[in-house]
Amino acid sequence: MSGFDHRRYRPAPVVSLPQRQWPSRVITQAPRWASVDLRDGNQALLEPMSVAQKRRMWSLLVKLGVKEIEVGFPSASQPEYDFVRWLIEEKQIPDDVTVQVLMQAREELIVKSFEALRGARRAIMHVYNSTSTVQRERVFGQDRAGITAIAVQGARWLQREAVRYPQTDWVFQYSPESFTSTEMDYAVEICDAVVDVWQPTPERPCIINLPSTVEVSTPNVFADQVEYFASHVKRRDSIILSVHTHNDRGCAVAAAELALLAGADRVEGTLLGNGERTGNMDIVTLAMNLYSQGVDPRLDLSNPDEIIQVYGECTRMPVHPRHPWVGELVYTAFSGSHQDAIRKCLHKQGADEPWQVAYLPIDPRDISRDYQAVIRVNSQSGKGGVAFVLERDYGMVLPRWLQVELAPLVQRESERRGGEVDGPAIYRLFTEHFVRDATPVSLLGYHLDRDGHDVIEARIMDDGREHTLRGSGEGALSAFIDAWTRYRGQQVSIIDYSEHALGAGTDARAIAYVQVNVGGKRSCGAAFNHDIVSASLQAVLSAVNRERLALQRTA
Ligand code: KIV
Ligand code: ZN
Repeated sequence: MSGFDHRRYRPAPVVSLPQRQWPSRVITQAPRWASVDLRDGNQALLEPMSVAQKRRMWSLLVKLGVKEIEVGFPSASQPEYDFVRWLIEEKQIPDDVTVQVLMQAREELIVKSFEALRGARRAIMHVYNSTSTVQRERVFGQDRAGITAIAVQGARWLQREAVRYPQTDWVFQYSPESFTSTEMDYAVEICDAVVDVWQPTPERPCIINLPSTVEVSTPNVFADQVEYFASHVKRRDSIILSVHTHNDRGCAVAAAELALLAGADRVEGTLLGNGERTGNMDIVTLAMNLYSQGVDPRLDLSNPDEIIQVYGECTRMPVHPRHPWVGELVYTAFSGSHQDAIRKCLHKQGADEPWQVAYLPIDPRDISRDYQAVIRVNSQSGKGGVAFVLERDYGMVLPRWLQVELAPLVQRESERRGGEVDGPAIYRLFTEHFVRDATPVSLLGYHLDRDGHDVIEARIMDDGREHTLRGSGEGALSAFIDAWTRYRGQQVSIIDYSEHALGAGTDARAIAYVQVNVGGKRSCGAAFNHDIVSASLQAVLSAVNRERLALQRTA
């Protein structure tokens, strides 16, 4: 068997857990977060982080509120040793933050790791060895007893070294590496053996960390494994149960979430999911998932652009524009029906009510994104999106009939450009097409006598010649229509009309939109003016000018 042949592979083993509890639970609180950006994340980089990059990443993690941070493998790498010393000697570790270091279960590495941490107020010493069948048989050539002996010996060395540095508050952590590919009874057995050495208590617990070193199954299988482990391991009340998921099948976040349902207390991961191969569990995504369900994530993710910036500086990798919660395009709607729904919901969304906006799972402003990106217009967009952009960028509230007229013009423009039409371009299209109050007819001035019945005297320029029009009616607009009809002998009637101020204040500009029937033809126009009456008369002239120009074009 070779080539693209699925028969080369076997399904990952599943756990029989018919009484599983996790499917009917919900997550109601954030887990303890542990960052492994500076270890697993760094280890996965083509070019490991420089000292400056590590410091930058460290400061960001502290700023975000991560309280447990694995800073490296100081026994195996001099730069990581030096970084740990810098943190301690330069007093960079806040009182509520605990550093964590990783080591294999080898004596010289354990001794050196303790030495690297001398003087720390508190530290998590994380020891691991591989436990899966493949690792036992093919890598280490050891049986279960041999692998357990390595773990137990490592646990003893940790205990021995800790006694040499009594001024530090030591916390012990053990990971059965490749847990997900380990037989569950053996995973429990080896962790029990380690815990028996450490003798933790509820007051002084140890951490048992269950890694999906390589993600091999669906997240529900991982949850079953975690629930099996949690319900079979001894001294559960003296263990902080941690999970460390990888993203080989693209489900690291889902697996961690289901593991929380299954009893995990703590989650290890990285910002935006950097890490070995397809990466570690993305802390930002999981935290935002909680946030969007009304659960306090206990991390400050109000400025993900800073996270993206530091992530880019430290990993030299870009963030995908569709990355969950923080990608550049994740709050953007191009489709007309989505834009329409968003616009309607945003109009109805009260400041103090729970968020209920279609297609926007959270308010982008919570994470320092404005509505600028929410609706972007291209050829797939419709009138709702076009109207949204004009309102958002120019304060213009277009009546529906004008939206219907404008949208196809924008669509054609987008097709012509082969892409997005931004706010200024939409505004330009609007004014070019609908604000036609200068030629061939323009308004020079008017006088309105409002003594009961409105009587208007309007001066206009028509094809370069000045005229004075007179008319009367109920309101300035109908008086002007009357005057125009007398002047041109052309039947004009108003179909619809609206106006509003653009911005606040007495000298704010106003805009008027009018839809008229000119000699049996429908025409729309708009006009801006500081004086609302002038704006409405000019809007009528825009409409009649458009109709006249259209006739000239077809003549
Ligand atoms: O993925 C893994 O198994 C690890 C362990 C060292 C915890 O990173
Ligand atoms: Zn890992």
